[in-house]
Amino acid sequence: MRKLLLIPWMLLTMLAVASACGETGPVPDEPELIRPGDNGNTDNVEGGGVNSRCMVLYCSRSGNTERMARTIQSVLGCDMTAVEPETPYEEDYNAMLDRARAELDAIARGDYPAIATSVEDFDDYDIVFIGYPIWFGHMATPMQAFLHNHAGLLAGKRIVLFASSGSSGIAASERDAASLLPDAAFEESLLLTSASLGSMDTRIPAWLEELGASREE
Ligand SMILES: Cc1cc2nc3c(=O)[nH]c(=O)nc-3n(C[C@H](O)[C@H](O)[C@H](O)COP(=O)(O)O)c2cc1C
Repeated sequence: MRKLLLIPWMLLTMLAVASACGETGPVPDEPELIRPGDNGNTDNVEGGGVNSRCMVLYCSRSGNTERMARTIQSVLGCDMTAVEPETPYEEDYNAMLDRARAELDAIARGDYPAIATSVEDFDDYDIVFIGYPIWFGHMATPMQAFLHNHAGLLAGKRIVLFASSGSSGIAASERDAASLLPDAAFEESLLLTSASLGSMDTRIPAWLEELGASREE
């Protein structure tokens, strides 16, 4: 059973956030969160997929992108790996926002945050799904760091982006990905916002079908 925890956006919060974020779009006071339900547990799953030819990489702070990753994994039977920061994010939401903002500023100067996750090679995978939350309009920083560290290994791979956000679009993060992985072949991305996360169990299989991705027998 899934529960959608609806946290109403307060007018004041929206105004404050809009001014803080500029053109990158609003940041919710706290992310709207779909709790892991029928097909979600919170353990980090490494490997174990039926389909050895696809990999799902994701980072997720509050569980929405993780749930998207698990849905892709359950449809296609991919292997799956969580990309984690070396130092966990602060429990305090404002401190976490400050850190995320500082990390994005550092990335703009070419300085990527330390992450705890690395993958030796992607030789077994034809297609790599890369999932992340939108942070201040951009790809969340741990995934940017992961792609920066693995650009050579991901060159020439079929890459499919997926993301969750409060309401912002995915275009700026697609540009992040294209500049981090200049030699990858990108396919149609999927963004689910807080308004559409609730329908992920229908949206994700339909999107995978459009991509022509199917479980390898
Ligand atoms: C640091 C930070 C920045 C965010 N920036 C945005 C944003 O610019 N636009 C937006 O729509 N949502 C923003 N959000 C909300 C998240 O994108 C959204 O809640 C997402 O579903 C969280 O995914 P997760 O549960 O996998 O961490 C932000 C959240 C955080 C923590």
